[in-house]
Amino acid sequence: MKIKDETLLFIGGLLVCLLTLGVIFKEENTEWKKYQKEFISLVSQKLGAEVADSVEPGISQIWNPQLKVTDRCQTCHLGIEIPGLEDGKQPFSTHPDLAFYKKTHPFKDYGCTTCHDGQGFATTVEDAHGEAHHWMTPMYTGMLAKDYGFKNSKSMIEINCNQCHRQDRETADMESINLAKKLVEEKNCTICHIIEGKGLTIGPELTYEGSKYPEGFVFDEVEGKKSVLNWHMEHFTNPQKVSKDSLMINFKFNKEESNALSLLMMSWKKKNIPFEYIPNPYRSNATKPKLVELDDSLEKDLSGEILYTKKFCITCHGKGGKSTTGAYPSLAGQTYWYLVNQIKDIKTGARKAGHSEVMKPLVQDLTDQEIEDISKYLYDLK
Ligand code: HEC
Ligand code: HEC
Ligand code: HEC
Ligand code: HEC
Ligand code: HEC
Repeated sequence: MKIKDETLLFIGGLLVCLLTLGVIFKEENTEWKKYQKEFISLVSQKLGAEVADSVEPGISQIWNPQLKVTDRCQTCHLGIEIPGLEDGKQPFSTHPDLAFYKKTHPFKDYGCTTCHDGQGFATTVEDAHGEAHHWMTPMYTGMLAKDYGFKNSKSMIEINCNQCHRQDRETADMESINLAKKLVEEKNCTICHIIEGKGLTIGPELTYEGSKYPEGFVFDEVEGKKSVLNWHMEHFTNPQKVSKDSLMINFKFNKEESNALSLLMMSWKKKNIPFEYIPNPYRSNATKPKLVELDDSLEKDLSGEILYTKKFCITCHGKGGKSTTGAYPSLAGQTYWYLVNQIKDIKTGARKAGHSEVMKPLVQDLTDQEIEDISKYLYDLK
């Protein structure tokens, strides 16, 4: 009996020792320590002992409660702020456009996840890059971007850039979002959607489109990835295919345009950005809105055609009165009085059939003269 007890005690003691050693071994060989050792030898080779000595060992953290940032990425990405390592070897390379970011978005203040997403406080590659299953906002890697057919991760990062830069009409270095903002303005999306308090309610409000959960979308007709981003990409390419009988116009966007608009939609998130992190949209190099004043003499001659565009009829009934969507009738060459009477009936509510109520708010403040001018223009198109 006694011998057995001693044996058990011995085995128990041995186990504890092994476990402790195991923990020490694991602690000494954590992923990040491995990278730090590798980095220091790389730097002393490339940039000399002095630079290598300036690398502070241990976990490095940026904390900014205002932006909800607790980022330890630099624990492995040690060369981010050291010029001379631009070769792109990760996790050691110098940040692209370092001088620009240091000046406009210093990392010590902005952290990393503000632009990249991922899980800031984690210290393993898998967790930090947010590839773990439970993490909602995985990092925008080159691989993820390729999956969606973007050139590189930069386009996707623009989703995050635009959370602060939303009010800019144009931002240097934001190619996709700039294109999308131009399209939203050109196509007058607010005819059918409320965006930041402006617009009509023919389609859903878009102000915080980027905060909608996947459960809010129907994926039955989506061919690729069943993600919200991909839903938007396929929907912009062909609204009627993704949302059956949709009243949205098929603008025949090409892939680049659909992708850009989808990134813009994803960026419209409900998020409280502290005031001091919102750039001033009227800073000197931003494009200021242009007011287009129509020449009076011009308006008289072409009043019908100008009104047809100015009052947004063109959006639904098409260029030159030729509609591209089944839900909206073509108007070119219709009989003059038929047009006048239909518009007036829709205005007063006497005509409610089909989808015509969609149009009511749009003709509400047309005067009789304007209705006649538009109808003459359309009649003449025959
Ligand atoms: C444990 C070390 C480690 C941590 C912590 C870490 N990384 Fe990385 N990172 C790597 C390694 C290794 C690579 C290259 C291999 C890879 O992509 O997985 C890399 C690659 C990258 C890339 C290039 C990816 C691509 O292919 O497009 C980016 C961007 C990046 N990391 C950002 C971050 C950000 C942001 C954080 C913090 C949220 C972070 N990393 C935290 C080790 C780390
Ligand atoms: C203000 C936004 C912003 C912040 C803040 C930021 N980055 Fe980046 N980062 C970018 C953009 C945009 C790119 C892509 C640049 C390009 O491809 O030209 C990039 C590229 C990178 C790359 C290279 C990826 C590749 O594919 O080669 C790494 C690594 C990286 N960032 C890590 C970090 C780390 C670590 C931090 C925090 C210390 C950080 N970034 C902070 C915007 C940011
Ligand atoms: C957390 C908010 C935030 C994020 C995210 C952010 N920015 Fe900025 N950005 C700012 C602020 C604030 C300024 C300073 C504006 C000023 O001084 O008027 C600025 C300045 C700039 C400028 C210089 C402004 C100019 O025209 O002179 C550019 C270009 C820019 N950002 C691009 C980007 C890009 C590209 C990204 C994403 C990779 C990005 N920003 C992400 C807040 C942000
Ligand atoms: C003629 C009216 C009309 C115009 C113009 C229009 N849309 Fe739509 N849109 C709709 C309708 C109706 C829906 C709902 C049915 C559907 O999903 O297609 C919709 C749906 C959407 C959705 C999906 C919203 C969600 O959460 O389900 C987005 C995003 C969207 N539109 C963006 C745009 C953008 C951006 C523009 C301008 C380029 C635009 N729309 C122009 C009518 C319109
Ligand atoms: C949001 C999309 C939309 C806009 C913008 C719009 N319409 Fe319409 N329009 C419709 C719909 C829908 C109908 C009715 C189709 C039906 O009955 O099913 C319609 C019907 C008409 C008709 C009757 C056509 C017929 O064959 O009976 C006329 C005329 C007309 N619109 C003129 C206009 C004019 C003029 C404007 C600009 C002031 C305008 N519409 C703007 C959607 C629109």
